[in-house]
Amino acid sequence: MADSVSRLFVIGAVVVPLVFPILGYLSNDLRVMFTVHLILGAFWFGTAVLGAVVLGPVMGNLSDEANAEFAEGFVPRMNLLMEPVSVGAIGSGIGLADMMGLWAAPTSSLWASLVLAVALLVLGFGPLHKFTAGMFDEIAADETDHERLASLNKKYGMLSLVELVLMIAIVATMSGIRWGF
Ligand code: HEM
Repeated sequence: MADSVSRLFVIGAVVVPLVFPILGYLSNDLRVMFTVHLILGAFWFGTAVLGAVVLGPVMGNLSDEANAEFAEGFVPRMNLLMEPVSVGAIGSGIGLADMMGLWAAPTSSLWASLVLAVALLVLGFGPLHKFTAGMFDEIAADETDHERLASLNKKYGMLSLVELVLMIAIVATMSGIRWGF
């Protein structure tokens, strides 16, 4: 998949979300880490909503050819970008909690956010990755099997709704952490 997008995109998509949390942690400045976490978290959340509620249904209703053409550009970029963003958002959250000394006496919201984060990672690197990789292979194949593509697209769409629910829940736990629950 990495071969189908520009090298600059690959570098930017992988390096930026992973390096900034590390820089934030090393800065030893809570405000820097907070900002990094907020940007990555907001980016991930916004993209998840857009994907599940807007792009997914739009893609599902396109003609076979238009769907394949759209997915060809969309799927590899989305996959390459969102996996590092998810790791970066979660890693920065764990690091931020550490900088705030919250792991000394974790609240139930902090535990809940960790559990939800693990679930989101399993979902993202497991089935969501499998479906997008399958979609990509199908599009890249000489003879695209549109039925299989549509079925993968549908499964992907349903699971992205599950992801959305988990994302809303994790943001709710952020509020809990903020107010000490
Ligand atoms: C999808 C993943 C995540 C998103 C979208 C997200 C989003 C946010 C947002 C919007 C805030 C600002 C509101 C606030 O101050 O409470 C925040 C703060 C925070 N987040 Fe996250 N977060 C995510 C994952 C995590 C994880 C996995 C952890 C740690 C296990 C974490 C730890 C924190 C901490 C410690 C704060 C600061 C709370 C405070 O100001 O008292 N976050 N996060």
